[in-house]
Amino acid sequence: MRGMEVIEKISEVKSFVHQIRTEGKSIGLVPTMGALHPGHISLVDQARKENDIVVCSIFVNPIQFNNPDDLKKYPRTMDKDLEMLKAAGCDMVFMPSVQEMYPEKINKEYDFGIMGGVMEGKFRPGHFNGVAIVVNLLFTIVEPHKAYFGEKDFQQMAIIRKMVELDGLDVKIVPCTIIREDNGLAMSSRNMRLSDEQRDIASVIFRVLKLAKEMALSHEVDQVQQWGIDEIKNSENIELEYFEIVNTYTLESFGTWMDVKSCTACIAAFVGGVRLIDNMKIF
Ligand code: PAJ
Repeated sequence: MRGMEVIEKISEVKSFVHQIRTEGKSIGLVPTMGALHPGHISLVDQARKENDIVVCSIFVNPIQFNNPDDLKKYPRTMDKDLEMLKAAGCDMVFMPSVQEMYPEKINKEYDFGIMGGVMEGKFRPGHFNGVAIVVNLLFTIVEPHKAYFGEKDFQQMAIIRKMVELDGLDVKIVPCTIIREDNGLAMSSRNMRLSDEQRDIASVIFRVLKLAKEMALSHEVDQVQQWGIDEIKNSENIELEYFEIVNTYTLESFGTWMDVKSCTACIAAFVGGVRLIDNMKIF
């Protein structure tokens, strides 16, 4: 068995990939921005089960940060990340520099329609365009058969599926379930910036999502939505950005439960200046 390779140059990734593909092996890609936690590792585990070779990318993508302070404060824990990936059986880690990925300015503009304009799209202008550009670039460089994304970033997954469709790429997008802390808080690299007390406060997000799902059995859509909004607004030390229940496939709002085959409740909120997102499928 070969050890885990760590590659910084695109040209070297391409020859690695060429070799693997010549051997007729399948490649699974797990794109990340590092500061890895068990949520990321669950994606690697899933990729390990379904592919001969697992590649993980670590790249804090500057063009998807609409807030410069968030980019500056984004946690970087490279040595620990590499240890975790090695233990998880990752075969290759691609960790390029910004210069390597973006030697010149990119001005590609995707049109994701409604999907790109609601929720995260509304509150983080330019974010999804930056995500789509980097994921497209990673797919072009690594040429994976399958790529793994967490349902934690529900809207991101929809956007990436759309990008794959728009650009006609041949990559299967595999969704992976949300990994949570014991108190229900969805694991996130940004949680490292929360104190224990703030993590407790943030656990209201999961409780509200769970209760919203129960309430949906006996209440109308707008009642559940209003309840969720009030519940978080009435909690202390957490500031709600949005609570929305949307069509799982189109991300559009709707009037009655009968209007959709599947719907998902989505929340974004700030705790101690840290922006957290989470979601739960209602049905
Ligand atoms: P990052 O936030 O590092 O997340 C990398 C992947 O891990 C994403 O697909 C995300 O949904 C998944 N993930 C994060 N927390 C998770 C959890 N608690 N349970 C399950 N999966 C989880 O998302 C990004 O990076 C970037 O936008 C990226 C796609 C890499 C493009 O730059």
